[in-house]
Amino acid sequence: MSSPLAELHLHIEGSLEPEMIFEMAERNSVQLPYRDLDDLRSRYKFTDLQSFLDLYYANMQVLRTSQDFADLTRAYFARASAAGVAHAEFFFNPQAHVNRGVALPEVLDGIMDAVASSEREFGLSSGAIAAIVRDLPVHEAEEVFSEVIRLQAPIIGLGLDSAEVGYPPSLFEDVFARARSEGLHVMAHAGEEGPPEYIWQALDLLGAERIDHGIRALEDPDLVARLVDEEVPLTVCPSSNVRLCAVDSLADHPLRTMLEAGLLVTVNSDDPAYFGGYVDDNFIQLRDQLGLTDDERETLARNSIKASFASDARKAELLRG
Ligand code: ADE
Ligand code: ZN
Repeated sequence: MSSPLAELHLHIEGSLEPEMIFEMAERNSVQLPYRDLDDLRSRYKFTDLQSFLDLYYANMQVLRTSQDFADLTRAYFARASAAGVAHAEFFFNPQAHVNRGVALPEVLDGIMDAVASSEREFGLSSGAIAAIVRDLPVHEAEEVFSEVIRLQAPIIGLGLDSAEVGYPPSLFEDVFARARSEGLHVMAHAGEEGPPEYIWQALDLLGAERIDHGIRALEDPDLVARLVDEEVPLTVCPSSNVRLCAVDSLADHPLRTMLEAGLLVTVNSDDPAYFGGYVDDNFIQLRDQLGLTDDERETLARNSIKASFASDARKAELLRG
């Protein structure tokens, strides 16, 4: 019997499935630039992070009302629960919606409505993390975050995502200091495409409690030693790394090397609608292509519970299986 999973690195907008894109476009009278589902699906071929982000942001135009955000979040919970996820901490990008004219309360109300009932409806505890779009102006991140706080949205943390290279964590020291002073958890995408230096900055300048991706940490032995010593969790997303060409294939993925180095690694799906599957699909592909064993899967499952921000009581319940 394997332990339940916590999924800790999931962009809710990245769970927007092609069928949902067409359904929401229809109900919101949004004109899509795709002939049909096959035409849309034919575009899911990426050469790097930016080539994916272009489509990811374009498809968000169908999300307009709190109902859309609630439906999107509930659809993820249903699929994640079927994948064995008992606890989910997921990102959303407030700027990506506010900047195209969707009022922030529409976004927050929809997401938080689904979060509030996730245990009852899906048996899955959950928490939402506002993520800063790091390639947009820094002052905008600060303004939108202030608005999230003013609206007293019950988020659990602040994250940092989007185009990494050229947008170091150091740009965002002030807004992360503010988040910490508000009692929020903080984490940052670092070392996905960017250098190990960005991981050092996330730890030292932002106070990151977890690193999202972090695969390039392996290039810096001193950094690995620090991450091992401080038990900093790394939320690794194997299929995403292959689809975005950060890694050649799952057979070449550094996941096992990271485990063997003693890093607190977890497996996550990142943007499952775009990268060929949810967290269960990631595990199946890792078993088939990397030879991931049942024991390694169990370690990864237990790591995910340990690395989560669930209460100690909830963690103990999940670790009992
Ligand atoms: N936003 C959605 N998916 C992302 C990823 N893999 N890296 C950075 N930002 C993202
Ligand atoms: Zn991500």
